Amino acid sequence: MLPFLPDVIVDPPHPEPRDAYEVSAEFYDILQADQDRARVHRFYARDVRTARRGVLDVGAGTGRVTLMCLAGSRVPVHAVEPTRSMRSLLMTRLAALPADMRERVTVHPYRLSEAGLREVADVAICHNTIGCLPPAARHALWPAVADALVPGGVLLVHLPPDRLPHDEATHVLPAQKVGQHVYGGRMVMSADGDRIRTRFDYWVRGARGVLREYTETFWMWPASRAEVIAELAGSGFGPLPRRADSAVLAVRLGRR
Ligand SMILES: C[S@@+](CC[C@H](N)C(=O)[O-])C[C@H]1O[C@@H](n2cnc3c(N)ncnc32)[C@H](O)[C@@H]1O
Repeated sequence: MLPFLPDVIVDPPHPEPRDAYEVSAEFYDILQADQDRARVHRFYARDVRTARRGVLDVGAGTGRVTLMCLAGSRVPVHAVEPTRSMRSLLMTRLAALPADMRERVTVHPYRLSEAGLREVADVAICHNTIGCLPPAARHALWPAVADALVPGGVLLVHLPPDRLPHDEATHVLPAQKVGQHVYGGRMVMSADGDRIRTRFDYWVRGARGVLREYTETFWMWPASRAEVIAELAGSGFGPLPRRADSAVLAVRLGRR
């Protein structure tokens, strides 16, 4: 039973920043999960199976990678997710798991650099996260990943776009039926200075037409594979042989 409010001292650990995913959270899984589930498996499942110490999911979002790590390993899993709306969906996913599986996963409600994780994992994954970080935040991430990994640990980075788009590009998110409603959306990417403006338009339709429409804009920062390798070298990581999927960079943390 929940305590009465007067018994509770509300003392959040940090003031939370504006929730960048407050619109997209509702649409994230219904519009993107199917495509991404297969990709996540292809990119990371083999490494997750080899984990012996722990797996770190940096920017866990709604938990697609976290769930794959729990199913594909027997080790503790650390899901780092600072944004409340995304973390809420992750918690709902975890709540549906059997208790023995849930015991293995810890949710850290911070940016990785604030989470204070030390040598908790031998495999770390940054899926669909690096591109959303401004360069300064990206640079702050690598030493925090190095701290969280044991020496010899492997980091798998889903690389951001390596350049600005030349023209505006639209990617339609396949529509999905939910009962009497159809959910749909599109992503529109365009260059804006040194950043990529990424606008998501969402809609929900019923029998009589559009019921709801929303737009949310994100910024992305391009970085080439070579740039990311050079940044990671500064935190003690060396590149591993190229993977079949060129979207993923694999690096190993050297002995410290
Ligand atoms: C585009 S979402 C991707 C979520 C998930 N990896 C997926 O592919 O479904 C990027 C996530 O990274 C999180 N994030 C942003 N900065 C972070 C940081 N410094 N440390 C950890 N997570 C961060 C955001 O809150 C957001 O949920």
